[in-house]
Amino acid sequence: MEQMSSTRLASGHEVVHMSEEWLARMGQDQTLYNNGMVRLLPDGWLYPTLFTEYAERIYNFKFRSSDVVVMTMPKSGTTWMQEVVWTMLHNPDLNHPLAGEPIYHRSPEIDLDMILDGKGLEGVSIDHFIKAFHEVCPGRKIEDGMAFQMCELMPDPRVMKSHLPFALLTPHILEQTKVIYVARSPKDVVVSYYYFFRVMKLFTYTGTFESFVKHFMNNDLIYTPYWPHVKQAWQRRDHPNMYFVFYEEMKSDIMTQLRRLNDFLGLNLTQKQLDNVAHQSSFNSMKERGEPIKDMEAFIPDKHKKFGGYFRKGIVGDWKNHFTPELEQEMNQWIEKHASEIGITFK
Ligand code: A3P
Repeated sequence: MEQMSSTRLASGHEVVHMSEEWLARMGQDQTLYNNGMVRLLPDGWLYPTLFTEYAERIYNFKFRSSDVVVMTMPKSGTTWMQEVVWTMLHNPDLNHPLAGEPIYHRSPEIDLDMILDGKGLEGVSIDHFIKAFHEVCPGRKIEDGMAFQMCELMPDPRVMKSHLPFALLTPHILEQTKVIYVARSPKDVVVSYYYFFRVMKLFTYTGTFESFVKHFMNNDLIYTPYWPHVKQAWQRRDHPNMYFVFYEEMKSDIMTQLRRLNDFLGLNLTQKQLDNVAHQSSFNSMKERGEPIKDMEAFIPDKHKKFGGYFRKGIVGDWKNHFTPELEQEMNQWIEKHASEIGITFK
């Protein structure tokens, strides 16, 4: 049972607080949030309750024409695209002094503040993040939202990350700025998300892979549902300020994507500079430079060692190593139903 509250967000969404029963059931194999979670109707987005405190400011956020927003469902290649775009805009000659800083310092996430209420983060130091906040936002207060204020005060051209869908951002976003959307096959997304849930103290998932996949398909994991998120981007794919790309396309030919992005962003980078970007954003090079979150305490050490963190495998088709035939069949049906409704075909 979910309880209806009377709150309506600026985006028009109705806020539904997840019931004690739901929280207890989901809390059996993962760590949740101090103030519970909400679902936003009609789409069904599932977020920590803290989101509602930021929702209006995020919805009214003023984007600039020089901004680039990297929008994704988690585990779809967000960090990769952020590194690509930030390097294209700020570091094509590989000489930027901030290039070694964690990605959240160079490319903040507009919705990150809502997860800082995670029970799994209690006792975890986020000192690097706080330091980055003070560097970008001198004199600003932590309690006013670190990531949100970093988005506000980043020097132009800003590269921002959003796991929020179009529906929760200003409806004028594509008139105001450029959006790059990365979509990834849901089977690989769910595998990547599963390991992320296992290695992060924020989630500490202890259930089976099979039940995780079911939670994903039932829209019972933070940031789900998957389909409306992809759909809202797919419907806008032909807008001149929109760049829609599949993770699988980036994997199969990154240089073609870099050339297209060069045009999309109006940059005129040389081939040498594009080669630099390809090198700097390659899986091995990013992995060697280390985790995008420097606060390593956020990971469960032995799990991180065993499974990897943000840079796990970086391949297409790892789902084949995880699905039983029955589970595969079930997910295939789910994918076929939704993908055909949307008219999208995964690469
Ligand atoms: P896997 O867990 O399948 O390896 P996000 O940044 O949205 O959280 O996505 C993380 C996924 O992108 C992880 O997938 C990670 O390994 C992969 N990834 C990160 N950097 C990459 C890169 N440079 N090239 C290819 N894949 C990358």
